[in-house]
Amino acid sequence: MTHTLIVFHSGTGSTAQLAEAARQGAAEIGTASLLRINGADIVDGRWRNESLLAELDEADAVLFGTPTYMGGPSAQFKAFADATGGRWERQALAGKLAGGFTIGSSLNGDQLQTLHYLSILASQHGMLWCNLAVTPGRDPLGRNPLGTQLGVTAQNVEGRVADAYIETARYLGRRIARMASRYEAAVNVEETV
Ligand SMILES: Cc1cc2nc3c(=O)[nH]c(=O)nc-3n(C[C@H](O)[C@H](O)[C@H](O)COP(=O)(O)O)c2cc1C
Repeated sequence: MTHTLIVFHSGTGSTAQLAEAARQGAAEIGTASLLRINGADIVDGRWRNESLLAELDEADAVLFGTPTYMGGPSAQFKAFADATGGRWERQALAGKLAGGFTIGSSLNGDQLQTLHYLSILASQHGMLWCNLAVTPGRDPLGRNPLGTQLGVTAQNVEGRVADAYIETARYLGRRIARMASRYEAAVNVEETV
């Protein structure tokens, strides 16, 4: 069964709301779990928690989530990303699916820059990027209201995350899990012929 891991950092809880929605969406297709990045695991600027890193190896699909801080991922998320360097050397995550989500207090807030970073991180690992296939303004559920096709962007308004963003995150979780299960099935067929 396809397993989706949602790896995220959240300081005040709004990214965590998106992460939980993505987990619920992925769990409609397969198994799904959350891996929350804690700043306490950063020692001398380096994120150290090998047992949590090992969860990446077990996943078929990984969603990366971080708040946008100063036009990019949070320092806590970046420290985690740097800690995946050993896996980059071995290309241990190559072929897994990846996607991303972020949130800011501004409607734009340079959040696309954060998604660019997350997609580059996935590419460094040889992962396959899963985007959104929702036409903004024409979706009956109002998903992808900011019209970001690369992943989920959202606005935190005084601690509240509007339903449209939550539903977009839920959809991305479901979409990446569905894609991973189809991909897994195709690879299995290939291996048996
Ligand atoms: C250091 C710092 C930098 C931030 N930079 C941005 C930014 O560049 N763009 C933006 O829209 N919001 C920015 N914000 C606001 C956060 O992204 C926003 O509050 C977000 O919802 C926090 O996510 P969290 O609740 O998961 O911690 C910044 C917040 C902090 C603390």
